[in-house]
Amino acid sequence: MSGYIYETRPESLERITDLDRAQAFIDGQVKALKEQIGDQKVLLALSGGVDSSVVAALLIKAIGKNLTCVHVNHGLLRKGESDQVIKVFREQLGANLIYVDAVDRFLDALAGVSDPEKKRKIIGSIFIDVFAEEAEKLSDIKFLGQGTIYPDILESKGVKAHHNVGGLPDKFKFELVEPVKFLYKDEVRVVGKALGLPDNMVYRQPFPGPGLGVRCVGAITRDRLESLREADAIVREEIEKLPKVPWQYFCVIPDFMSTGIKDAKRYMGWAVVIRAVNTVDAVTATSPEIPFKTLCAIRDRIIANVHGVNRVLWDISDKPVSTIEWE
Ligand code: XMP
Repeated sequence: MSGYIYETRPESLERITDLDRAQAFIDGQVKALKEQIGDQKVLLALSGGVDSSVVAALLIKAIGKNLTCVHVNHGLLRKGESDQVIKVFREQLGANLIYVDAVDRFLDALAGVSDPEKKRKIIGSIFIDVFAEEAEKLSDIKFLGQGTIYPDILESKGVKAHHNVGGLPDKFKFELVEPVKFLYKDEVRVVGKALGLPDNMVYRQPFPGPGLGVRCVGAITRDRLESLREADAIVREEIEKLPKVPWQYFCVIPDFMSTGIKDAKRYMGWAVVIRAVNTVDAVTATSPEIPFKTLCAIRDRIIANVHGVNRVLWDISDKPVSTIEWE
């Protein structure tokens, strides 16, 4: 159930292309949310992605402390991501934020699992368990906030798979609050900007729900995952220096090793694969040109700083036939 009468975007909703329209949308939504929610309580899974962040910021404006945000750290987030969620929402916006460190729970369950679909299932189901446990502790929640956006409705009948809260057990009879459900992604970003969220949150590249879990190819080990997180931060920093940044850019560490040489001795190490793509809808994608200087800067920083890595590769495959992610 939702607070909307229309399941299709109302014709009266003009495209939100600038900050004035975004502000008008925010004012209207804050009023509507206050009316819908009254003095009841709302729970929201806050990943730090643009959709859930915008919903959180709107709800904080409308109902303040009656919103409880739950941020689950599954250990597969990018470097600094959880810290930013805490800084922005708890410290700057005064949100009622529960931070759940579930890193060991996720990584223990994933140990030794190499099948990509099994990995996704484990991540999704533990996420629901952890979120449900937090919901259980809060007895008086009436509504569930969700960062559903219009393409989710058009493409998957409103199921926001990557938020992973759609599968909550039946005993939770929450009513849904979905204030950006008629907006396209670019509009959500303008609204986020008007709400004063930081640019690196608002203009964030897409990041899969299972996070670094699908980029630490095969069975995830903690040491390879840490190296992936460090290498990913370096790839992002260097690519973001370019005048034109690709649509998505990241790195992958496959679960094989190759020979390196250090102190005149041969040893085995991991390879980091740089991946960048341009696309409109992620259905097809092309590999953009990256200046060799940038690739070398990435290589030098990774080899000097990332534990266990002795080789850096660049994946220049297009989709099709390669998918964007490696698994
Ligand atoms: P592929 O690898 O299928 O990716 O070409 C297309 C887009 O989807 C993202 N992706 C995911 N997003 N959960 C998500 O929320 C997932 O399991 C998942 N797998 C892929 C990928 O990052 C790319 O933008």
